[in-house]
Amino acid sequence: MSAPRLEIAQLTVRFGGLAAVDDASFAVAPGRVHGLIGPNGAGKTTLFNLVCGLVAPTSGAIRLDGQRIDALPSWGRAKLGLARTFQNIRMFNDMSVLETVMTGMHAGLGESLPAVLLRLPSFRKAERAALEKAWELIDFVGLADAARRRSGDLPYGDQRRLEIARALACGPRLLLLDEPAAGMNPSETHALEALLEKLKGRGVTMLLVEHDMHFVMRLCDEITVLNFGRKISQGAPSDVRSDPAVVEAYLGAKVARSLEAPQ
Ligand SMILES: Nc1ncnc2c1ncn2[C@@H]1O[C@H](COP(=O)(O)OP(=O)(O)OP(=O)(O)O)[C@@H](O)[C@H]1O
Ligand SMILES: [Mg+2]
Repeated sequence: MSAPRLEIAQLTVRFGGLAAVDDASFAVAPGRVHGLIGPNGAGKTTLFNLVCGLVAPTSGAIRLDGQRIDALPSWGRAKLGLARTFQNIRMFNDMSVLETVMTGMHAGLGESLPAVLLRLPSFRKAERAALEKAWELIDFVGLADAARRRSGDLPYGDQRRLEIARALACGPRLLLLDEPAAGMNPSETHALEALLEKLKGRGVTMLLVEHDMHFVMRLCDEITVLNFGRKISQGAPSDVRSDPAVVEAYLGAKVARSLEAPQ
């Protein structure tokens, strides 16, 4: 059997006395959409920060396609194909939509400094290819008409889709999405779900944190549930939503019942 795309093994991080992630283990198979859910403060964003290298673990291991990555700096992990979006949008507001997507591509487009500075033909060729790819991505997320607009002027839902386009620009092996639907109105959420379905259809492996349970249950192949940093449940959406431990710690009986009803 091939190695999982992402493997989290007995991962723990302590902030003072608090174990924000506590002995958590799970794996994400290539091409799958894996949900990570749980109450506020359960440790979901902290787990993303551990995977991306913004927080160092107290103990445990993180592997990408079988390779230990937990000692690498963030940029080293990005180079191996990790990309993420943030719970609160972090973007350069003054850049155009097109420029923003291009910042997601690898610095210098893989060219040597002299080639960049002297604008050698090899650099110009790489630059053209990058521009072409950026247009493709903008079109893919449905922002082609807004390509020249200032990123900061886009409506909120479009900014979130732009953030996804930027994260896709490096051709990630694993895309981490931290509450992509937060703050969206129903039609923006619907468009986002269609976009993530499209990505799933293209085989992009995703780890998704989200509080919109209908969204999560429809999109994910498998779900891991955290509570106070610990994994309390894992399985297919239909198993997780009827797990009494999940209903008690997070969903509540009312939400659990509404998830059973046909959509
Ligand atoms: N850098 C830090 N220093 C100290 N405590 C932290 C730090 N980062 C997170 N925490 C704490 O770790 C716990 C987990 O927080 P985290 O942000 O990971 O939760 P979450 O599951 O993403 O919650 P939400 O659904 O509200 O986004 C919280 O108690 C939080 O206060
Ligand atoms: Mg969070």
